[in-house]
Amino acid sequence: MIGDWLDIGPVDQISPGNARTLPVQGGEEIAVFHTLAGQFYALVNKCPHKAGPLSQGIVHDNVVTCPLHSWNISLKTGLALGDDEGCVPTIPLKVDAGRIYLLREAVVGAKAA
Ligand code: FES
Repeated sequence: MIGDWLDIGPVDQISPGNARTLPVQGGEEIAVFHTLAGQFYALVNKCPHKAGPLSQGIVHDNVVTCPLHSWNISLKTGLALGDDEGCVPTIPLKVDAGRIYLLREAVVGAKAA
């Protein structure tokens, strides 16, 4: 795969319910999540509350609970759920032939609020 999509490796590098981080030179670190239902999502690895490392949070359904103060963040939208307010940028992701791809321009351009 070439062009707009960045190959970040095979799907089996992230076990279900876990995440890995992807450092980005000149940009925000990205967290790539694998849900228990087998979905993959990518977000900037900074909670919209106080920049907690979302990659170290607990994944349940399509949500990650921040490890610092337990805000729940939607993996689909990056929005804080419930009474909390805030949003973290999401990175378009696709899985093709067992590999994970991120939209290159979103990886480089991602900025946490
Ligand atoms: S930094 Fe994530 S809930 Fe406070």
